[in-house]
Amino acid sequence: GRQRILDALRLSQEQLLDVKRRMGEEMNRGLAKESHDQATVKMLPTFVRSMPDGTESGDFLALDLGGTNFRVLLVRVRRWKRRSVEMHNKIYAIPQEAMQGTGEELFDHIVHCIADFLEYMGMKGASLPLGFTFSFPCHQSKLDQGVLLISWTKGFKATGCEGEDVVTLLKDAIYRKEEFDLDVVALVNDTVGTMMTCGYEDPLCEVGLIVGTGTNVCYMEEMQNMELVDGGEGKMCVNMEWGAFGDHGELDDFSTDFDKAVDEHSANPGKQTYEKMISGMYLGEIVRNVLLEFTTKGLLFRGKLSERLKTRGIFETKFLSQIESDRLALRQVRSILQHLGLTSSTCDDSILVKEVCSVVACRAAQLCGAGLAAVVDKIRQNRNLPELKITVGVDGTLYKLHPHFSNFMHETVRDLAPQCKVTFIQSEDGSGKGAALITAVACRIRDAGQ
Ligand code: BG6
Ligand code: GLC
Repeated sequence: GRQRILDALRLSQEQLLDVKRRMGEEMNRGLAKESHDQATVKMLPTFVRSMPDGTESGDFLALDLGGTNFRVLLVRVRRWKRRSVEMHNKIYAIPQEAMQGTGEELFDHIVHCIADFLEYMGMKGASLPLGFTFSFPCHQSKLDQGVLLISWTKGFKATGCEGEDVVTLLKDAIYRKEEFDLDVVALVNDTVGTMMTCGYEDPLCEVGLIVGTGTNVCYMEEMQNMELVDGGEGKMCVNMEWGAFGDHGELDDFSTDFDKAVDEHSANPGKQTYEKMISGMYLGEIVRNVLLEFTTKGLLFRGKLSERLKTRGIFETKFLSQIESDRLALRQVRSILQHLGLTSSTCDDSILVKEVCSVVACRAAQLCGAGLAAVVDKIRQNRNLPELKITVGVDGTLYKLHPHFSNFMHETVRDLAPQCKVTFIQSEDGSGKGAALITAVACRIRDAGQ
């Protein structure tokens, strides 16, 4: 009965090692010119090559689009106050119509928010260098140019953007508004922004990880391994876009009917397979599908299928975190279920629901850890080291709010990459700060060249 169904969601050490091995293979395929087009993990060059050295300075604007919140930020970097950065920011809603309407509407809305922010800061009409955290897969040929959106992820689907230069879309919208001018200096993925934010404090930070609405990783790769970029010296940050891992069947052995149901009803069926098994936008839906199955089999809610349980999206990630909180008594689990409209629950039901949440979150954390083990081991092998000490900067609501996710994930990395001593630090300031720092570095280098 119950355990048989849940066993499909439990992964053995061998299976996790297999995930690590396959991720390693996909990384190499994504980096190599001849196999890049077929690779699921795109290993995108970011043109971010150097970390801030503390001599940058100035006022910068940053945009941060693609997570739970859309933010506009003003970031003041002062060279005489080494590593101290002053930030002001405002959160704006992205209405459903803007997310799913036309690209013009979306970018007009963004520019409208920038205008409001400048006014709010008393800086109307100011023209500042801008770093744009845009947390979607983009092909870049420079830091600020040739940034073609490959495809939307995470439920965004504004039309007319895919295949377009995102910086141009933004500039065009600024032009339409005719109120101010901005110098768009850098387009930055949220993983890269997070790595930079954390790297400003800890120079060993060479990996950025997001486990939030979506999931993704970036890390510093040797230029000589990056066949898509000319010039072989030093390192460059690679945006892996690892969420697409599994899109060619690499995860079929582990995927369940619950995963298939979630995928089928998503905005991008067949895409972002790994992300859909790990990140906050999807875990609640996996849980709901398991509960549906239990109920249909008469193992839960006295076999009564409520309309509520049949409703997509009722299990937000925050409920998963709440239900699994150790301080929570079962009767509180029950009240959460009641709050969700699942009224006919017994004490046994609460125990089972909690177990389902725990199995689904544990699988997500272990899958994520297996992927990360492949990343840190690759960095270790790149440097020919018997042992690597490295820091991973992490952000995202699932990682930060879930009571057990981080522990399971860290444990998996330790088990699967024993030769790497990995320290995890949480980013407190978001990716916007990192995007501003990248902009500051680019301005410093540009000004020095003039
Ligand atoms: C934030 C970043 O800190 O983390 C966002 O600034 C990013 O850009 C986010 O997308 C990820 O978290 P979530 O949970 O909001 O998707
Ligand atoms: C999605 C996006 C990716 C982003 C991640 C985390 O996977 O495609 O660019 O980094 O979500 O927000």
